[in-house]
Amino acid sequence: MEKSLYVHRYRWPFAISKLALWSLIFIALIIFLFFHSPSSSYSYRSRRLTSNWGGPDWEKRVQRSARGRFHTGSHGHLSVLVTGAAGFVGTHVSVALKGRGDGVVGLDNFNEYYDPSLKRARQKLLDRNGVFVVEGDINDSNLLHKLFDVVPFTHVMHLAAQAGVRYAMKNPSSYVHSNIAGLVNVLEVCKSANPQPAIVWASSSSVYGLNSKVPFSEKDRTDQPASLYAATKKAGEEIAHTYNHIYGLSITGLRFFTVYGPWGRPDMAYFFFTKDILKGKAITIFEGPNHASVARDFTYIDDIVNGCLGALDTAGKSTGSGGKKKGAAQLRVFNLGNTSPVRVSQLVSILEKLLMVKAKKIVLPMPRNGDVLFTHANISSAQRELGYKPTTDLQTGLKKFVRWFSINCLRESRSFAISASDAGVRSVMLISKENG
Ligand SMILES: NC(=O)c1ccc[n+]([C@@H]2O[C@H](COP(=O)([O-])OP(=O)(O)OC[C@H]3O[C@@H](n4cnc5c(N)ncnc54)[C@H](O)[C@@H]3O)[C@@H](O)[C@H]2O)c1
Ligand SMILES: *[C@@H]1O[C@H](CO)[C@@H](O)[C@H](O)[C@H]1NC(C)=O
Ligand SMILES: *[C@@H]1O[C@H](CO)[C@@H](O)[C@H](O)[C@H]1NC(C)=O
Repeated sequence: MEKSLYVHRYRWPFAISKLALWSLIFIALIIFLFFHSPSSSYSYRSRRLTSNWGGPDWEKRVQRSARGRFHTGSHGHLSVLVTGAAGFVGTHVSVALKGRGDGVVGLDNFNEYYDPSLKRARQKLLDRNGVFVVEGDINDSNLLHKLFDVVPFTHVMHLAAQAGVRYAMKNPSSYVHSNIAGLVNVLEVCKSANPQPAIVWASSSSVYGLNSKVPFSEKDRTDQPASLYAATKKAGEEIAHTYNHIYGLSITGLRFFTVYGPWGRPDMAYFFFTKDILKGKAITIFEGPNHASVARDFTYIDDIVNGCLGALDTAGKSTGSGGKKKGAAQLRVFNLGNTSPVRVSQLVSILEKLLMVKAKKIVLPMPRNGDVLFTHANISSAQRELGYKPTTDLQTGLKKFVRWFSINCLRESRSFAISASDAGVRSVMLISKENG
């Protein structure tokens, strides 16, 4: 560097006109490329300048992550783009796919809806398992087109979304951005990919809304959403129909019922109840009219993962190419629940036993902010078509969650009373205390 500067300075008087001419040509070329590049719009350029994707090294990492291990089975290996991979469900699904030999590339924007350090910790776990997570937004069509240029994905597991029911009153546009615009962008890119991938995506039990017929079956009405979140998921199901109908995309929607477990979401009740009970902070339990209890069909993450893999493995091929449909393609929707709703008061008493701490409870009437009174899945359709069979009850699943929580989340606040019913939990709590 220093040397070349010196050389230039030394030769300056002799080469002035030549240098000026070359500089001019060079600057003109840069200006030309900047303003006249046919493939790049302004937003594309500005995003490329600030984003951390692209380049040969990045492409190599993507391709390496997308490579499957050879394995014998009923199918060759899949090559799956998992959106929302640094999320709760996305992490588990990605690890499971990679673990059985499929190729997986993650995509996540690491937004701050809840503590992004948890997403980063999941990213580390994924990295250790050979899954690369691309950092970017599902509404960025340049990024998605690029990913399909680099890897001919056979499947897209679309899990990225703005989740949460109550947050929709605070930040409605985030739901439109991810669950509507983002979904349409994913489907647009999938439809023009060649070959088109098959798509499995996360809808939600919340589409049943104010439906009171139990258990919820896929054929029941879903036109009374109780929250903007539910409405965007319902809209997603209709949008999926359109892309299946016009472009021959194979699309499977999965209506998850209250998923919980290790690496879970801190905005969900089982998670913050655990945290608050341990802190000795009062928890609020909502009840319906006439003291009706609120109940949820809590579904353990491993069961959900099996349902997701079952959906990917049974997904038919998309039939279109070059944006044109060649024939009818598969369009499915399934409930993935546990089929045994549990009252929230029961959830709390299981946690009290596992944590060996009595909860301070405040019981309040449920505000009308998006939550429904109960959910209960009829899973006979998923059972038949996907071989889906949940095996984990709430007691068993929460025990695994509490064990994970005690290892990974206790260090944040070490003033907790260290106490647990289970010797294993007690010892890991002590270990994590000592190490922390
Ligand atoms: N967990 C449940 O109980 C439950 C129930 C029903 C439906 N679902 C659905 O399942 C899916 C996964 O849920 P989860 O519990 O893992 O939630 P999560 O919030 O942990 O995961 C979603 C991930 O997507 C990412 N993301 C959000 N918007 C994005 C965007 N525009 N571009 C790129 N990445 C983006 C987030 O950063 C996050 O890591 C979601 O679609 C959710 O709506 C979850
Ligand atoms: C999504 O991307 C499109 C195209 O780049 C852009 O016009 C739109 O504003 C974005 N939508 C949202 C809600 O962010
Ligand atoms: C569950 O759904 C199936 C259709 O998939 C239906 O035949 C069955 O009657 C439903 N069961 C109940 C208890 O509603």
